[in-house]
Amino acid sequence: MAEFSITIKGLSVRKSELSASDAELLDRAEKATLNAYAPYSQFNVGAALRLETDEIIIGSNQENVAYPSGLCAERVALFAASTLHPQMVVKTMAITARTTKFELTDPLAPCGGCRQVIMEYQRKQQQPIRMLLAGKGDIVWIFEDASMLLPFGFEADYLKGD
Ligand code: THU
Repeated sequence: MAEFSITIKGLSVRKSELSASDAELLDRAEKATLNAYAPYSQFNVGAALRLETDEIIIGSNQENVAYPSGLCAERVALFAASTLHPQMVVKTMAITARTTKFELTDPLAPCGGCRQVIMEYQRKQQQPIRMLLAGKGDIVWIFEDASMLLPFGFEADYLKGD
């Protein structure tokens, strides 16, 4: 028997320590929460992508009375960006949320399905996607590579059989 472990590296920074570019991206994600359609959860998620071209694409969660028909903010942003710019390279993705139900202080991480989708585009572009995760509090978590959020993800190589 052999034990193994993995290391997840991230940075915890204050909002005031963010670069102007990252602060702007987080601001766009915060504003995107206002566009969420979340009448069932009242949990508004906002995502903002900074592309290599510096263009920012936003997404917000869109719910449906038939629950699985809705979509998370992260996927709305990524699918919109890839539709508009099929050859896009995403440099950084910021994610935040707001809810009227309680104070959402801590940074929040994307759901498993969204992590898999983020990793799909990271693999496609062969460049890491930086992740900025924030709540209403002062702390932002930064991951320089989205793979930090999905250890043991389903890999494209699995389909090749080697
Ligand atoms: N949601 C997101 O938009 N992103 C995530 O990563 C997890 C959850 C949305 C889905 C649903 O509309 C609401 O948040 C509550 O789960």
